[in-house]
Amino acid sequence: MGTTKKIGIITSGGDSPGMNSAIKSIVNYSNMNNINCLGFKYGYDGLINNNYLELSNNKVKNIIGFGGTILGSGRSIDFLTKKGRKQAYKNYLYNKLDGLIIIGGNGTFHGVNKLNKEFNIPIIGIPGTIDNDIYGTDLTLGYDTALNTIITTVDKIKDTANSNNRIFIVEVMGKKTGYLALNSGIALDSLYIIFNRKYNLNKLVSLLKKERVLSNIIIVAENTKIGNASKKLYKFLKNSITNYEIRRTILGHIQRGGSPTCIDRILGIRLGLEAIKKIINYDNNFVIGIKNNKIIHITFEESVKKKKIDINSLYIYNNFYNK
Ligand code: F6P
Repeated sequence: MGTTKKIGIITSGGDSPGMNSAIKSIVNYSNMNNINCLGFKYGYDGLINNNYLELSNNKVKNIIGFGGTILGSGRSIDFLTKKGRKQAYKNYLYNKLDGLIIIGGNGTFHGVNKLNKEFNIPIIGIPGTIDNDIYGTDLTLGYDTALNTIITTVDKIKDTANSNNRIFIVEVMGKKTGYLALNSGIALDSLYIIFNRKYNLNKLVSLLKKERVLSNIIIVAENTKIGNASKKLYKFLKNSITNYEIRRTILGHIQRGGSPTCIDRILGIRLGLEAIKKIINYDNNFVIGIKNNKIIHITFEESVKKKKIDINSLYIYNNFYNK
């Protein structure tokens, strides 16, 4: 083992606020230790096509306050193939890299897991996704910012919902896990939070048939498994409720952007620093997360195989209305 001279950084999958913060801390610490950083562009495709930026302190100055990722991100189709991963490995060797730090979500770590098994490269993963669905870590980069975006946006919807005495169904992102739906729904004092296919709509309908309810927001997780959950709910309620007008809003990609919150910035710095220190110390091949405010490590295998919580057991959260 020689000294670490050059590393690669990749941001992959859906971008998330806080990724820039992690990049910044990795680059600053590397610079202090005379390590060069190559930032590969647009996810794994950057490594496959050898498309990179040389990252100096100057390049990462002031990026901490920006959402997205200065490297660009992507869900690489080529990386799903052995041929693509082989090409990525070739470029890893060609650039004489001593390790990779990869920031992304579940899909990204599936890719790392494969790359690791095939080519045994020193890799550290940093969980970056607004979905907060990575096993073992309490938080992922971008989740707190996305939650806050949902809260401030839906608060505005509430103003108009209240004024017109309407019910609003609001669909939020979060893939199959529903974390964003669960916690934004609680913080918004929403009438119902709906995650999965088992929800019992009769209770909701009887509640809405009463003259007045305390809240008029229903948060629905996008939950790709049900497919169009908020649309189905909208149709159902429109046909069963006559005493309220009903509207449906899909918040969409607004949830992925914006300046990272303080929590996401600091999390990015902490995870980034730990990642580069581990690479330097030849301690690698795991995801770095945070549990009870302490840094922890999760194997790639575990992070892709285990589920964070069984959200299906929490299919409807209804705080003050369930009798
Ligand atoms: O994983 C982050 C996420 O924003 C999910 O919440 C959402 O389902 C998905 O990405 C959207 O992906 P895309 O930007 O490729 O449409």
